[in-house]
Amino acid sequence: DKGAYPYYMLKEIDEQPGVMRSLIKHYVAEDGSIKIAPELLTKLNNADRLYIVAAGTSYHAGLVGREIFEGLTKIPTEVHVASEFAYNPPLLSQKPFFIFLTQSGETADSRQVLSLVNQWGYQSLTITNVENSTLSREATHTLLLYAGPEIAVASTKAYTGQIALEALLAKAMGAQKGLTTAANFEVAQELTKVANGMQELVDEKAQIEKIATAALATTRNAFYIGRAIDYDIAQEAALKLKEVSYVQTEGFASGELKHGTIALIEKDTPVVAIITDAKTAKHTRSNAQEVLARGANVIYIVSRALAEEGDQIVLPDVHPLLTPLLAIVPCQLLAYYTSLQRGYDVDKPRNLAKSVTVE
Ligand code: M6R
Repeated sequence: DKGAYPYYMLKEIDEQPGVMRSLIKHYVAEDGSIKIAPELLTKLNNADRLYIVAAGTSYHAGLVGREIFEGLTKIPTEVHVASEFAYNPPLLSQKPFFIFLTQSGETADSRQVLSLVNQWGYQSLTITNVENSTLSREATHTLLLYAGPEIAVASTKAYTGQIALEALLAKAMGAQKGLTTAANFEVAQELTKVANGMQELVDEKAQIEKIATAALATTRNAFYIGRAIDYDIAQEAALKLKEVSYVQTEGFASGELKHGTIALIEKDTPVVAIITDAKTAKHTRSNAQEVLARGANVIYIVSRALAEEGDQIVLPDVHPLLTPLLAIVPCQLLAYYTSLQRGYDVDKPRNLAKSVTVE
């Protein structure tokens, strides 16, 4: 039931701080240890490479997962679009372990890869929101998101839930291996900070609505740009906007723009620059200047520590691996309000189904 909300998408955006808290409750013990079966952690830690397989928004949560797993466990991690992997799998390492990310647990493309993985005799883990879903039953292990049902076709709280659970899992793996980076990563504290930051952002939705009205309500196209983890966020932000507002949107690596795509920038083309990664902040700013010089309407979404005068959306500071959890919130809201202003059914965008059960 969506209660007083006009659409489930808005309700589910607002639920994200609660999803963070529910994950802490389900996965963190009183003494701070992570409640994930040591047997699963050992199997993951024995792998020489992790293969994350997913579709759509879950694939984008996988892109962030790569940063998290490599950062906290030091295990090389690859992320694959399920429909590509199914017919064109990469050469596998000696000891692979497969992680399926799927809100519904029913996505046909991911199911197809899991059945291949089972035929090959490899172990797997499904991270899903739906207990007893097909991908959960057919994988060796399951971890649940406990995010509550996600009804809107555009996925929001499953994305942030998946990233937070990846962080909990990677922390537990790294701690089992005795890695200092993982030991120093106080995951419950960090996710609590995230929950509070998300609350601040959803409380400021009126400001995001204004930006959507001014920059996106009538545009033909739009770009989200960033580097490193901010490029991962840009890809999810672009999918959100295009699927509910039908604005042609690309999420782009900001350094790659000048190699061709900058030709599409016209007067007033909205370009949202995402800047949360300290290593690349300066470079994304200079790419934003390049599009500004060609007439683009640049909107900055920036972590507080990296913010400059005039940046429109400033994010509370959190751990560098968790910034997507905050940066995505204003992007979800931009998508929501743009769809609303254009008069579309936000929860049921044209041509889309909540769970894609055909290949
Ligand atoms: O249920 P899943 O997470 O496996 O679904 C994957 C995609 O179909 C899904 O994320 C889709 O891209 C959403 N419409 C994105 O908002």
